Amino acid sequence: MTVAPQFQHKNGVLHAENIPLPELAHQYGTPLYVYSRQALRDAWAAYQEAAQARDVLVCYGMKANSNLAVINEFKTLGSGFDIVSGGELARVLAIGGDPGKIVFSGVGKQAWEMRAALEAGVKCFNVESEGELERLDAVARELGKMAPLSLRVNPDVDAHTHPYISTGLKENKFGIAIENALDVYRRAATLGNIQIVGVDCHIGSQITEAAPYLDALDKLIDLIQSLAAEGIHLQHLDLGGGIGIRYTDETLLSPRVLLDQVFKKLDSHGLGDLQIILEPGRSLVGNAGILLTAVEYLKHSPAKNFAIVDAAMNDLIRPTLYDAWHDVEAVQTRQNTDEALTYDIVGPVCESGDWLARDRPLSLQQGDLLAIMSAGAYAFTMASHYNSRPCPAEIMVDGYQAHVIRPRETIESLFQDESVLP
Ligand code: LLP
Repeated sequence: MTVAPQFQHKNGVLHAENIPLPELAHQYGTPLYVYSRQALRDAWAAYQEAAQARDVLVCYGMKANSNLAVINEFKTLGSGFDIVSGGELARVLAIGGDPGKIVFSGVGKQAWEMRAALEAGVKCFNVESEGELERLDAVARELGKMAPLSLRVNPDVDAHTHPYISTGLKENKFGIAIENALDVYRRAATLGNIQIVGVDCHIGSQITEAAPYLDALDKLIDLIQSLAAEGIHLQHLDLGGGIGIRYTDETLLSPRVLLDQVFKKLDSHGLGDLQIILEPGRSLVGNAGILLTAVEYLKHSPAKNFAIVDAAMNDLIRPTLYDAWHDVEAVQTRQNTDEALTYDIVGPVCESGDWLARDRPLSLQQGDLLAIMSAGAYAFTMASHYNSRPCPAEIMVDGYQAHVIRPRETIESLFQDESVLP
């Protein structure tokens, strides 16, 4: 069993839905990102089921994977989008996404990005500082528009996750400290081109328990009640994203378990009518993708065995950046298994940090294909061209059919816009 139901071995060969991965490697080359359409749909269904009949708007945190085919699939399923840049806004508009279902997050929104989002008519700006609040009001005034606003509050809760992806502690750069939030709302209420519509938090990523969400919710409920006492009534409560996925053997928090508890808490405070917004990224796409790579060389040094593959840290930076674990599956399991050795899976980039997995028992030969699992989220979107390596192609598998949703970049495209001095 792999961590992802749509990527399973059949007759000893790893498939993406109904397509054997060696076929894709043969046709499109490696390294190659391969996604499963059904896995996207299944992940979406878990949120839909969790929402029951309540007013829940899921805004896909598209920074996890912003390929147009991926976001279009979610659009078709009814998703909104959590964006963090003018670039992500442009992607949603390019697929005809509904701006009324876009929430705009991020600590550093520039004036041009605010303008573009106001002109598009986004549902809400998740504002993260007083400076941003003042700028948003000014930009909206210039355009003669009202800017819908939610404050991203930093509730100071520990999400028990990796420090780089924990965002709800008071030492993080994100959000407005919960103790200052009331004052900032009061200020917002005096501004002519701001319309207060909600409150927001996002406490971190790869969270596997409900407790941090519920702690944050308690603090937000206090705030909502204080605001109501001053005549400031909110339409929505945005709990951000962050639900974790199984990279190996993590216990999972399901959207259903989380939302059941959220609804119960809100109902008990008479807040059952608030619209709930969620901004899941990883949990919608993480296990819907793999990175397919070929073994170029096996190298046995006195201290280590290395499998040098054709994917590298520029294609998937999570291992070296976060010490993240990704399962590695041999695409073809051998009949007469040679003794498995313990390998570090490394790429060709000139950095010791260029590794994808460490100390994995595998039986390998040169030319073998490996699948780096759980590579649907924060994988292609964090890729770079380091070492002048073109980004891999991206393929979406739908049953027996493979669609190229982004071709492999050409080498020439890497420098076509550069120029030498006269
Ligand atoms: N909303 C906001 C405001 C966010 O900052 C994020 C992620 C999300 C939603 C989506 O969170 P998710 O459901 O995917 O956990 N590159 C890191 C993850 C960084 C997450 C950044 N913010 C990684 O590869 O683990």
